Amino acid sequence: MNEVKVNLKDNSYRILVEPGILDQAGALVKEAVAAKNAVIITNNSLNRLYGQRVAAGLKKAGINCHVLAIPAGEKEKCLARASYLYDKLVKLRVDRKTAILTLGGGVIGDLGGFIAATWMRGLPFVQLPTSLVAQCDSSIGGKVAVNHSHGKNLIGAFYQPKLVLTDPEVLKTLPKAELTAGLAEVIKHGIIADERFFRYLEKNLDSFLRLDLEVMTKVVTANCRIKAGVVARDEKELGLRAILNYGHTFGHAIEAAFQYRVRHGEAVAVGMVGAAYLARRRKLIDEAEQNRIVNLIDRAQLPLVAVIARKLIKKHLLYDKKISDNQVCFILIVKIGAVTIENGISWDFIDKIVGEFFLKRSPALRQISSN
Ligand SMILES: NC(=O)c1ccc[n+]([C@@H]2O[C@H](COP(=O)([O-])OP(=O)(O)OC[C@H]3O[C@@H](n4cnc5c(N)ncnc54)[C@H](O)[C@@H]3O)[C@@H](O)[C@H]2O)c1
Ligand SMILES: [Zn+2]
Repeated sequence: MNEVKVNLKDNSYRILVEPGILDQAGALVKEAVAAKNAVIITNNSLNRLYGQRVAAGLKKAGINCHVLAIPAGEKEKCLARASYLYDKLVKLRVDRKTAILTLGGGVIGDLGGFIAATWMRGLPFVQLPTSLVAQCDSSIGGKVAVNHSHGKNLIGAFYQPKLVLTDPEVLKTLPKAELTAGLAEVIKHGIIADERFFRYLEKNLDSFLRLDLEVMTKVVTANCRIKAGVVARDEKELGLRAILNYGHTFGHAIEAAFQYRVRHGEAVAVGMVGAAYLARRRKLIDEAEQNRIVNLIDRAQLPLVAVIARKLIKKHLLYDKKISDNQVCFILIVKIGAVTIENGISWDFIDKIVGEFFLKRSPALRQISSN
């Protein structure tokens, strides 16, 4: 079994990555949280695929278990749905020792984690992430949240799980577009922190896309290790954890410009290409290094450019909280595997880059498409 420890003093926990681990959830949850009762929060389709299997395993281990399944979709990550779930917890007479298990992608993990963090000031919580985004990103680090009409993830907390059980085998049922979108964050982790892992991806990406279980397990484990390493050094995002936002300054502006009708991963992919271009224009990396990044993103079947009016990108970049006094904060690569946080880039320079980069229209480059 692959084990990654998230070292956070009293809040430390283990991430276990293993094909088929969902079938061992009963014993592993029992060991980690010593709960007699559990509530599994999931969505309807994942309940059909895996929920009953996990529930059966828990019951076999002597844990009394209820499944709360909700519809799928980002719009469910809201206070109204949280309120509906609180009502269900009341009906189930949940007490402070009941464990909350989240079985799903980032939506279920964030929403279920938010329920666990807030109900009775905190219930023990175990993540069972099922999408690539959830396995490599959202289940690690304890950020839980629901959205507000004013913006994503505005209502939330830092609340660490007691255990994360990650089964790479379930990625075989994940829709292809979700797998590809998840690869953007996977590639990001290589770029910001681990050149060796980036090289592994260059060598094994095709096997990953063919759903080779051994490669998927290695990729997910390596990702957990990288993200856990960053989180352990900066749990509450006061400094270093910001490097996880690589590609996200442009990425968020692209998402907003497309009125959130694009996948987050696709916007981040274009954002990473843009940030690599920016790093080369500032002479931090050379063309060969930039090309390695662009090629890997391209091979992952992610878009490389987004054609958006310059004015629109500017509007949304200026809206971003990373901008103050006409100075922009960007996470930039100094080489693959190492980044720097640059605070003092002038807006004029960024504007020039935006002009050069976002107006690139070429049939040879895969463009972002709204969904
Ligand atoms: N907390 C964090 O640190 C963090 C980090 C990144 C993203 N997020 C959040 O995560 C959310 C996005 O997560 P996501 O990309 O996983 O989207 P998602 O949770 O909506 O899942 C995508 C789709 O895939 C389906 N799915 C998931 N696993 C499956 C499987 N194994 N087989 C078949 N279908 C499966 C889901 O039902 C859903 O329809 C956003 O709300 C984002 O804000 C949070
Ligand atoms: Zn992201």
